[in-house]
Amino acid sequence: MTAINLTIDNRPTSVAPGTTILAAARALGIAIPTLCYVEGFEHSASCFLCAVKLEGRPNLWPSCATPAAEGMKVVTGSDEVRDARKTSLELLLSDHAGDCVGPCRTGCPAGLDIPNFIARISAGDHRKSAEIVTDDLTLPASLGRVCPRLCEERCRQCEVEESLSIRNLHRFAADTGRSMPPVPQPNSVIKSEGAGGTPAPPCKRVAIVGSGPAGLAAAHHLLRRGHAAVLFDAHPQPGGMLRYGIPSFRLPHAVLDAEINMIRQLGAEFRLGKRLGRDFALDELRREFDGVFLAIGAQGSKGLGCPGEELATPALDFLGQLADGPPPVLGGDVIIVGGGNTAMDASRCAVRLGAKSVRVFYRRTRREMPCLMEEVEAAEAEGVRIEYLVAPIRLERKGDRLSLICQRMELGSPDASGRARPMPVPGSEFAAEAASVISAIGQSVDVNSLEASQLALSKWGISVDPKTLATNLPGVFAGGDAVTGPDLAVRAVAAGKLAGASLDQYLRGKKVIGTPQSVNVLMGKLSEDELAVFLRDIEQAPRAPMPQLEIDKRRTTFEEVELGLSLQAATRESRRCLGCGCGKSIPCRLRQFATEYGVDPGRFVGERRHFARDDSHPDIIFEPGKCIMCGACVQVAVQAGEETGLAFIGRGFQVTVAGPFDRPMAEALRKSAKRAAEVCPTGAIMLKGAGCAGCRLA
Ligand SMILES: Cc1cc2nc3c(=O)[nH]c(=O)nc-3n(C[C@H](O)[C@H](O)[C@H](O)COP(=O)(O)OP(=O)(O)OC[C@H]3O[C@@H](n4cnc5c(N)ncnc54)[C@H](O)[C@@H]3O)c2cc1C
Ligand code: SF4
Ligand code: SF4
Ligand code: SF4
Ligand code: FES
Repeated sequence: MTAINLTIDNRPTSVAPGTTILAAARALGIAIPTLCYVEGFEHSASCFLCAVKLEGRPNLWPSCATPAAEGMKVVTGSDEVRDARKTSLELLLSDHAGDCVGPCRTGCPAGLDIPNFIARISAGDHRKSAEIVTDDLTLPASLGRVCPRLCEERCRQCEVEESLSIRNLHRFAADTGRSMPPVPQPNSVIKSEGAGGTPAPPCKRVAIVGSGPAGLAAAHHLLRRGHAAVLFDAHPQPGGMLRYGIPSFRLPHAVLDAEINMIRQLGAEFRLGKRLGRDFALDELRREFDGVFLAIGAQGSKGLGCPGEELATPALDFLGQLADGPPPVLGGDVIIVGGGNTAMDASRCAVRLGAKSVRVFYRRTRREMPCLMEEVEAAEAEGVRIEYLVAPIRLERKGDRLSLICQRMELGSPDASGRARPMPVPGSEFAAEAASVISAIGQSVDVNSLEASQLALSKWGISVDPKTLATNLPGVFAGGDAVTGPDLAVRAVAAGKLAGASLDQYLRGKKVIGTPQSVNVLMGKLSEDELAVFLRDIEQAPRAPMPQLEIDKRRTTFEEVELGLSLQAATRESRRCLGCGCGKSIPCRLRQFATEYGVDPGRFVGERRHFARDDSHPDIIFEPGKCIMCGACVQVAVQAGEETGLAFIGRGFQVTVAGPFDRPMAEALRKSAKRAAEVCPTGAIMLKGAGCAGCRLA
């Protein structure tokens, strides 16, 4: 038998006749992606992912099905080949009926595995659910009290009832975990990307400036990767705005302290009362440490923007004093100017400090207020009066009182923020007197401490590459409010998590790429019968209400207002979860390649297939809308000598694999179901009990 000589990517090789290009390339160690090809099976050449270019021949060829020929010159990695593979993947995904992850999960900036931890609560495995939330989130109990629940807007239960109470559930998971002996630690080690399971190299030291949620999350994720984290903070206590902004009736300091202690126990060192720009300089940190993360937040208060603004107390000073020192003296009545979280928090604190009357002046209407409506309702329930369409134009002293001259506003066309622009109503000025005026207009990033450092700044704060959080200075990364301007705690936590990954790559001398996101296919709105698949095993029930401290106590104490879900309520609530997301335990190769090739799953928007699920088989779940017709399962059944087996049924777009003559899956795959799940390159055939959806369906 004469050997065949060919070149693959300019590398000469000789193979036996009948060898496919794919096998020849693999023998040379050249990786070609495959989906429909399974070693030892006949090729179906249906996915075209293994396409290669043959020089001198038109078109591209499926390498799994094309035999090598004498003198062939094969190209496996050109732009043309990559583009063709990308297009093949996009076509395969164009009608895919399935969610890669639960829709809720795509809403959490920090990427909490929501369906998974909820399934553990439902199963009574509270330790595991605590572990999941603690590993994924950093500060899950704190976020479980203050996060504006970005995930809940995307919850599929909204199509039927109110969304799952995801925030309250991860508060429950984290609180329950903390009360269990021994306390779960956020300590599961993260393998460094590309480290290949070898022990971490000698640890590197990172200076983190700012111990708010961004700094704490970065420390958490660096420590878990084997590095040392030293946190510097100007304040005497760690926590940033979670301690010095958000009042303790929303987030008790004991809860925050317990979560910070978990990070301390991992090895974080705190150097408190140390201010960058006063006690040390960025250049010193760069010399002394291997890497730096700047997480200094947005600590500057914006003034009222009118004459006399210096007479007003900045809300951050007022709230900060409450966190740390003797309660501030307000006098009898208080006006707070602003309409966001800070204004609501300051007003509710003023009530608790015994102010006779507390009024909030906001220049737009209730609809435009940049805070959760439940915060507004809570403030009102506690006695705060909110006056809308009012803006300050002057603040004056009047004896021992203050007089705030205001004007009425009306809404005009939208401004840059997309909200209706408030316009003054001519002749509508009026004076409002109060003992104290608190300005809660907004915050800014205080960049004074950075000005001498050559650090590039943006309109909002520190300028970074959003994919990696790298600044223009080598080894210096930044994130959280310091980069975005005033934002949300969960986004600061997400930034810290990303910084942990990027810094780790930097410290190991690797290319800094951050944490590339996997491609996510989401089904979007479901038809009634598709939704019925999810509702099949679910008890319909209304969302669990959060028990609240009685109103009299709320007006007079700083005790926590939201009391937390009981075990029974949390368990009931967890059972409302539909377990959305793909339960493929072996990673789905279609998604892996889609991510690797940077595909846009929405590029060829066609009608997606109907979502259906057959879970009648004891070992596997079959979701035909995810099938790419590779035929591997059909061949597995033949090889196993199944009596019934599987076949392709239907025509055109309706083709699917199924037991012939409507035979059920349990009969079709009596012996080979597990093997079929192994070879199936997508989540079309999945083992039961494997992933999130699987937990629920096992
Ligand atoms: C009153 C109020 C209420 C809020 N309510 C909510 C809410 O309900 N939900 C929500 O999600 N978000 C809320 N936020 C926003 C949230 O708290 C912030 O988005 C988040 O804390 C930002 O985290 P960070 O780590 O980037 O910065 P920060 O939390 O601001 O922490 C920055 C840290 O850096 C330190 N620092 C600053 N400058 C220096 C320096 N030069 N040297 C050393 N240390 C320095 C500070 O002392 C501070 O500890 C609220 C904010 C405020 C002010
Ligand atoms: S942190 Fe916020 S967005 Fe993330 S899961 Fe919790 S409530 Fe949802
Ligand atoms: S039902 Fe459960 S898994 Fe589905 S979106 Fe809601 S929380 Fe997520
Ligand atoms: S169900 Fe069968 S034919 Fe469809 S993708 Fe999976 S293995 Fe291939
Ligand atoms: S066509 Fe070769 S792997 Fe699919």
